[in-house]
Amino acid sequence: MILYFSATGNSKYVAQRIAKALDDKAVSVEHHNGNIVLSEKEYFGIVTPVHFWELPVIVREFLENMTLTLSKENYSFMVATYGSIPGCCGTDTKKVLEKKNIFLDGAFSVKMPDNWTPFFDLSNPRKVQQQNDKAEITIDKLISQLKTRKTGNHAVPKAPYFLRGLTDNLFRKARQTANFHVEETCIGCGICVKRCPVQAIELQNNKPVWIKEQCALCLRCLHTCPKFAIQYGNNTKEHGQYKHPDFVNCEKRS
Ligand SMILES: Cc1cc2nc3c(=O)[nH]c(=O)nc-3n(C[C@H](O)[C@H](O)[C@H](O)COP(=O)(O)O)c2cc1C
Ligand code: SF4
Ligand code: SF4
Repeated sequence: MILYFSATGNSKYVAQRIAKALDDKAVSVEHHNGNIVLSEKEYFGIVTPVHFWELPVIVREFLENMTLTLSKENYSFMVATYGSIPGCCGTDTKKVLEKKNIFLDGAFSVKMPDNWTPFFDLSNPRKVQQQNDKAEITIDKLISQLKTRKTGNHAVPKAPYFLRGLTDNLFRKARQTANFHVEETCIGCGICVKRCPVQAIELQNNKPVWIKEQCALCLRCLHTCPKFAIQYGNNTKEHGQYKHPDFVNCEKRS
């Protein structure tokens, strides 16, 4: 069982590549009830974006609430898809699972386009394509490592875990939905409402309104709005929208 969360398609794509190579299935945590039953020797994998050097809110909550028993014959791993530095994400996953007496065998990372566009610029399609092409090589290597059930934390470059206190604080502040605004180009289609994994948006008078003070900050709404009408802070318009080329439909099951 390969589980994933994906806002813009990177992690979904990696999860699907892994599942295909291992003759397994990739399932979104948004579509899973959290009761996981594995067969003998089956893989348990989680493929996730990195958010502020740690696990995304949605993945953390899923792992904390799921029920899973692993035997020595199973192999558990996580893969962080990241844009610049996965930081503490491998250790973070290990610690969340250890609290449930689940031992993580391997942690890995795949560098892909960084969808944190308040900072990173993804407006050049050629450069973005090059980053995705490069990722293919890492994914091939990763699959070989998973086939041999490689152990250890290989989610690099790592950051010391004690820094998580700092990044956690920044993440909490960044999650304030007051940072979003909607431009006039919005056509009131409601796609952002439907796709938000934490139901933080509502349509009021045909315009999206954030009804929660904080959201998961996955940026799915911003990157998948058909009119690019959702912005966060001052730089996102200039830095462009991003979806993995294989992105089909990451929206919540309707
Ligand atoms: C709120 C937020 C914070 C992020 N923080 C990091 C980070 O700390 N380090 C990093 O390398 N990438 C970071 N990223 C980039 C994503 O982890 C990366 O683009 C990932 O592959 C996106 O996966 P997805 O398309 O499956 O959602 C961040 C993205 C978002 C939206
Ligand atoms: S997805 Fe974009 S266009 Fe559609 S309602 Fe939301 S902001 Fe408006
Ligand atoms: S409001 Fe947008 S960024 Fe926040 S959780 Fe919902 S889809 Fe993700």
